[in-house]
Amino acid sequence: MNKAKRKPVIAGNWKMNKTATEAVELIDALIPAVKDADCTVVICTPFTTLATAVEKCKGTNICVGAENVHFEKSGAYTGEISADMLVDLGVKYVITGHSERRQYFAETDETVNKRTKAALEAGLTAIVCVGESLAQREQGVTEELVRLQTKIALQNVTAEEMSRVIIAYEPVWAIGTGRTATSEQAEEVCAAIRKVLGELYGEEIAEATVVQYGGSMNAANAEELLSKPNVDGGLIGGASLKADAFGAIVAAASK
Ligand code: PGA
Repeated sequence: MNKAKRKPVIAGNWKMNKTATEAVELIDALIPAVKDADCTVVICTPFTTLATAVEKCKGTNICVGAENVHFEKSGAYTGEISADMLVDLGVKYVITGHSERRQYFAETDETVNKRTKAALEAGLTAIVCVGESLAQREQGVTEELVRLQTKIALQNVTAEEMSRVIIAYEPVWAIGTGRTATSEQAEEVCAAIRKVLGELYGEEIAEATVVQYGGSMNAANAEELLSKPNVDGGLIGGASLKADAFGAIVAAASK
């Protein structure tokens, strides 16, 4: 393990929260809260807030990401947003395969792969989410499931593109529930993900790839989770909507 090779990435996932007007206030509070970060800081916001967020974050250390992207370049896909549209706005990151997309919007491993490919081909960095449900954890299939999700999400992703891939391990039972995985559970699965990356791309790429934990990460538990050798950052939902909490997580990742 060589965590020194990887700069932690703390990414907020705002989900369906904040109008563009409300976002201005939050970003104004976030800028001073994260300005001394020694990690990469990203906020992933709703589509309607992206232009505002990109404008507000210019000249700061905050990068802006979207929460989803469509896989076609353009065409008759009412309501969808392409990777080129995001790039044109100045967006640098995008989340793919979030469990809420899988659960409520019928995303499959195959569509997650297509979205990830489209994002990478357009030059975006993809934060690819994987993770098991509570039933799957209780059935003892967490590792197999996460291996499968990771492998399918990365079909046809080249070794070169892997420098713009982040994997976020997000156990579904920990998302928005206040029930965090223990640091041992997070480490175990993040290490398993890195092992798959090694099988697919070799040790060097596996060691260089950022693997985040997500699921009720907060100011109180971030330091312990991030102390694990294979946990290189976090994807933060609820706590990313509060500047002080998000700032504390960023500070924990900067130690
Ligand atoms: P949470 O969400 O931090 O509110 O649990 C994490 C996520 O869904 O990315």
